[in-house]
Amino acid sequence: MARTKFVCGNWKMHKTVAESLALVKELVAGLSEAAGKVQVAVAPPFTALHPVAQALRGSALEVSGQDVFWEAQGAFTGEVSATMLAEAGCRHGIVGHSERRQLFGETDEGVRKKAAALLAAGLSPIVCVGETLAEREAGRTLEVVERQVRKGLAGFGAEQLGRITVAYEPVWAIGTGKTATTAQAQEVHAAIRGILRQLGGAAADAMRIQYGGSVKPDNARELMSQPDVDGALVGGASLKAKDFLAIVKGALR
Ligand code: PGA
Repeated sequence: MARTKFVCGNWKMHKTVAESLALVKELVAGLSEAAGKVQVAVAPPFTALHPVAQALRGSALEVSGQDVFWEAQGAFTGEVSATMLAEAGCRHGIVGHSERRQLFGETDEGVRKKAAALLAAGLSPIVCVGETLAEREAGRTLEVVERQVRKGLAGFGAEQLGRITVAYEPVWAIGTGKTATTAQAQEVHAAIRGILRQLGGAAADAMRIQYGGSVKPDNARELMSQPDVDGALVGGASLKAKDFLAIVKGALR
């Protein structure tokens, strides 16, 4: 089944408001070829979400949060709700990024609650999963990813699953310059598709599974040519318009 490829730039803790606006201006100017053929989003830091979304009104470039808290409101200093993201102009929210899991103690159950909050607010979750180097070397990759997918998506029906993107990001490939080979990526993506079929039946065929981890202009096309690699979650290379645009171009058939 033909799935529209989905490329999202995860800016992490980079870019002030002024820098963010300058970058999206360049991106919009360069996106014309891909517009309508590839779904493209950027995930700026919280402070830049609203101004960036305002600047992107009427353009094909969409906005994502990098994280969210699952409660609707309350005494949760430092947190931001899904409704706040939606009102700021987001269409997507990233949850379960390995940096959140490793540095901020995010759990599979927390990931599920965050994804549920995004869905309830009308946003599309990008749910990240991926094994560490030690887990891969111990032969546990598929077991770890399966646990993260099943727990992170527990209890969602086919309609909800259809609005979710899964991002497979091997932790050892993030920010390291080491990319999974196309065969390694496709193997895990196919396994994830199999689990999604068990969870959501036919809805799984429409779900996008992004690859993330040192995606660059020179490896993006090959990775995204794999049958179950439906796009990319891009960190470092999304901070430069030229590189990110080249990656988006790699998603064009
Ligand atoms: P990277 O990050 O492209 O810099 O490896 C990817 C990610 O963490 O989403």
